[in-house]
Amino acid sequence: MFSIKSKIIFAYTLVFGVMLSGFSFIIFQSTKHAEFQKLEANLKSYSVALQTEIAEELSKDRELDLKELRSVRAKGLSGVRFQLFNYSHKKILSDSILSQFPEINFNQTEKQVFHYSKFHTPKESFKILWIPFETEQDSLYVLETAASMKDAYEDLDRLFYIFIIIIPLGLILTGIMAYFISKAAFKPITQMSETAKKITGNNLDQRLKLPKAKDEVRALGETLNEMVERLDDAFKSQKRFVADASHEIRTPLTVIQTELEILERKLTDAEAKESIKSSLNEIDGLTKLTSSLLTLSKLDSSQIKLNLTLVRLDELLTDCIQLLNSQAIKKNVQLNLQISDSVEIKADKEKLKSVFVNLIDNAIKFSNSGSSVSVKLEIIDSKRIKIIFEDNGSGIPVHELPYIFKRFYRSNETRAEISGNGLGLAITKEIVDMHKGEITVSSEVGANTVFSVILPVNIF
Ligand SMILES: Nc1ncnc2c1ncn2[C@@H]1O[C@H](COP(=O)(O)OP(=O)(O)OP(=O)(O)O)[C@@H](O)[C@H]1O
Ligand SMILES: [Mg+2]
Repeated sequence: MFSIKSKIIFAYTLVFGVMLSGFSFIIFQSTKHAEFQKLEANLKSYSVALQTEIAEELSKDRELDLKELRSVRAKGLSGVRFQLFNYSHKKILSDSILSQFPEINFNQTEKQVFHYSKFHTPKESFKILWIPFETEQDSLYVLETAASMKDAYEDLDRLFYIFIIIIPLGLILTGIMAYFISKAAFKPITQMSETAKKITGNNLDQRLKLPKAKDEVRALGETLNEMVERLDDAFKSQKRFVADASHEIRTPLTVIQTELEILERKLTDAEAKESIKSSLNEIDGLTKLTSSLLTLSKLDSSQIKLNLTLVRLDELLTDCIQLLNSQAIKKNVQLNLQISDSVEIKADKEKLKSVFVNLIDNAIKFSNSGSSVSVKLEIIDSKRIKIIFEDNGSGIPVHELPYIFKRFYRSNETRAEISGNGLGLAITKEIVDMHKGEITVSSEVGANTVFSVILPVNIF
């Protein structure tokens, strides 16, 4: 469902995402821990300084001066407050905000034991520290100090927002990087598959371009190239076999044909003459088949090169019409040639002739007695010409149109009654393609069939 490329991108992004989130979580937690420890340490040193000051004042039996006590430096702290209690829970010094603070649990504040706690108002949170201490007169007190946690929380919030930005940004960057990395990694494979797509039975001499790196992809490419090589050999030997067989069959066929023709002339018995005639028909079909097969195998092996000359199309078409006229007369089909100008193109005359003969032959073959076949020559523009072959015969059903240019394809309806091998159009199309032209067909069953051949005036 998903391509390997997208799976790799997803895996990269997921792994990096999990790692980044994990790291961020650890960094956040350790920063939080460090922030609170710093706050506690600062609060402790502030409390100790304050407590020393208070203890000193109390031992001298002096009145505590709130203003003076407030001037004790609270390093690294903001929003500091303090209150002083004696052991009968009486508040001696008090700060307005701290009056909201919870009552001290005196059992926990044992002598000389520091005790931390937290307190949250709707607006702010505080870290509280209780220090019990004793004066020289052995009176017991508890000093309660508090510092706002706002700064620490602000720092943590900042860190949190940085992570909120960094994590998705990191994921996007990883995704982009993974995309380019996997694209680069798969490039040789994509290139190989592009070339592999272009390799068909007709160009098995092509090979996949191998990547320089001696890796698994190269090994795969080499294996595929070896496979194509074996296929090429197999195809070549098969084509050679068809060509050789057709060639070998042709000579004895010609001999048999000549012998039978002589025999036919000599015979007087009508029945025997008839059976020789039908044998000659069969031999004719067989000769056509072998020559079509030979042509196709030559076309396949690219043995046939175009012998380009300037060809007068009007003349060539007239020749073809003349060649097939007797066949048309036999079938009572009228051949019409519509040419207004003389047209000259660069082409292989003999091959074009076989194209036109094939198409006119089909048109006559599939026409009904009494109908007509027209051949029209049109000039499209200065670069292209079009030859149209139209008949009013049996027509071709739409679902068969895609197959008629395939080798050995013959319509089921015509197969039984009309002779042929289904190779004429395959050869025709290959020759038109060699001329960089185009052949199209349109047809209506029982009404007409139109083949159009478009050819360049000058192919190179
Ligand atoms: N003008 C046409 N009208 C109707 N059907 C046609 C026409 N031309 C071709 N076809 C259909 O296309 C099929 C293939 O044509 P193609 O020329 O390749 O073979 P064929 O004429 O049967 O045999 P071959 O040309 O080898 O002697 C035909 O068998 C026929 O069914
Ligand atoms: Mg034909």
